[in-house]
This record gives sequence, structure tokens and C-alpha cells, in this order.
Amino acid sequence: MQTKKFTGPDVKKVPLVNFLTGQPSADLLPSSLFANASKKLFEIPGTEDAVLNYAPSLGSPDFLKNLANFLSEEYHTPVYKEHLCATPGASLALEHILALLTRPQTSTKFAIFQDPTYHLVYDIYRNVGFKDDQFIGIPEVIDGSGLDTKVLGKFLAKSLPLADPKTKDVEDYAAVLYCVPTHANPSSSTLSSPRRKELVDLAHRYNVLVLCDDVYDILTYEGSTPRRLVAYDLDIPGKAVVVSNCSFSKILAPGARAGWIEAKPCLIERVGVCGSFHSGGSPSNLGKVMSKIRTTIC
Ligand SMILES: Cc1ncc(COP(=O)(O)O)c(C=O)c1O
Repeated sequence: MQTKKFTGPDVKKVPLVNFLTGQPSADLLPSSLFANASKKLFEIPGTEDAVLNYAPSLGSPDFLKNLANFLSEEYHTPVYKEHLCATPGASLALEHILALLTRPQTSTKFAIFQDPTYHLVYDIYRNVGFKDDQFIGIPEVIDGSGLDTKVLGKFLAKSLPLADPKTKDVEDYAAVLYCVPTHANPSSSTLSSPRRKELVDLAHRYNVLVLCDDVYDILTYEGSTPRRLVAYDLDIPGKAVVVSNCSFSKILAPGARAGWIEAKPCLIERVGVCGSFHSGGSPSNLGKVMSKIRTTIC
């Protein structure tokens, strides 16, 4: 049989969209917004000191205040600046949190992942000393409503002791769980509300640190943004077990390398007031320009 070879479109004529990297095409990047905001910012007397000198380790107070207002509007629920710390985006923040809050060689026995998970996170875990035999995948429920908390509950019950309710904030976590509860990469699932609550309860019961990659929360176009797991944790007294790890990469520009984490103040202190932030100040001082962008466009 004679077959005709399919050659596809003429790649020289069709503009290609590269799906290998998750970044917008250049024409979508807000370059004039950045240019105008920077210009306006540097016209304000004293800006050079606030932007080009070392910044407070948690981030510029102006930025944190503006960020709290922005998030309160986006989430339709109050967000407080005391729960926030500026970061250079979700990827480096994940490594930083893991380095500070987990002990892969001793007390933190397992690195648990929503399965399937964002494929680039495994190396971040390996960077801080986790070994592949500590990796545990917990499947998602087939109907698209996120991580299967029943399977997680069974795994935790057989693998870890119950946490002492008096566990102190500074005590090591027995395991760390990574998940993308809202618009997960790659499955696009969104964790249902009852299972959000169940997941946070399990984390408290077994002393598990939950690292929520919430970079897609604000990209909710139908209905309202689901309540973040960290909001459930903020309601429960005792040890902090959830960090919301967020970024401007998906809502403004990935090259800005700017993001934030949200958690109980005790955890923010541990992550934000550490050796490297102490030495170099906040690793993401572009927040000042971000704040100006917000006041310029809103
Ligand atoms: C789930 C998820 N987390 C994190 C990132 C990277 O975020 P950042 O640019 O803030 O490091 C991506 C990028 O595609 C992602 O899909």
C-alpha cells in the first residue's frame, strides 16, 4: 500500500508556541507596566535606599501590606501581612523551606507527593538530601477532585505514630507532603473542600508539613478561588503544618522571580528569619516595583 508521508504545517510559516516551558509568549509580558512602575518609583525621593539597598528579611513592609490587600481581594477573605514573607518564586522557596524545616536524614522519614505531580519538584527534594526511596505517591481521586485523602490516611496510620498534641513548633516534622490543591499541574484537578479539611487534620494528627504549591489559585476563572489549605491551618491552634507557596510567575511574569509564602507567624519567622536572609536581606526586593504596579493599575 502506498502511504503519503504527513509533513505537517510548514514550520517556517506557522509561528510556533513552545509548550516545553510553561511561560507566556513575549507579547503577553507586561513590559510597559514594569517600565512605568519603575520610572514612577524611582521618581519618589528615597526610593534608591528602599529598593537598591538590603531589604528587611521578610520583605519590604510596603510590599507585604500591599500584597495582603491584593490577596484579600483575590481570595475574598482577609489575608494578614503578619502571615506573609516575600520569596524569589515558588521553586526556590520550596527548596528553602525544605532546607530549613525538614530533616531528610533523620526525623523527616517520607516525602509524600500528590500523584501525578509537577515533575520538576523531585530534584528540589533531592537537592536537600531526600532519597528516592523516601518518595511516596498518593493517587488522585478519579473524578478530578484531587488527592485521595483516604489513601493518605491509611498510609500515615500504618507508617507514622500519632503526633503528641503538645508538639512544639520547632520540633521536626515526621513527613512532608507536596501538593497542588488548586488547578493541579499536570492533572488540573482541584481538591474538594471536605478533603481540604481532612488533609489539614491528617497533617496535625501525624505531624506532617504540607507544602501547598498554590501558584494557580488566582487563575480561577469560574466560581471563586477555593479556600487555601493554609486558611484551615490558621483556624487550628497549635503547631503550624501548612505553607502556601505562591508566585507572581503565573499572574505577572516568571522572570520577575518574585513570590511569597503564607503561613502562621511562627513558621514565617522560622523561614524568613534565617541565616541567608539575615546576611543578604530579602531575596526578592522587586516587591517594591510590584507594589507600584498595583497602585499604578488599580
Ligand atoms: C505547579 C508549579 N509550581 C511551581 C512552578 C514554578 O514557579 P516559580 O516560577 O514561582 O518558581 C511551576 C511552573 O510551571 C508550576 O507549574
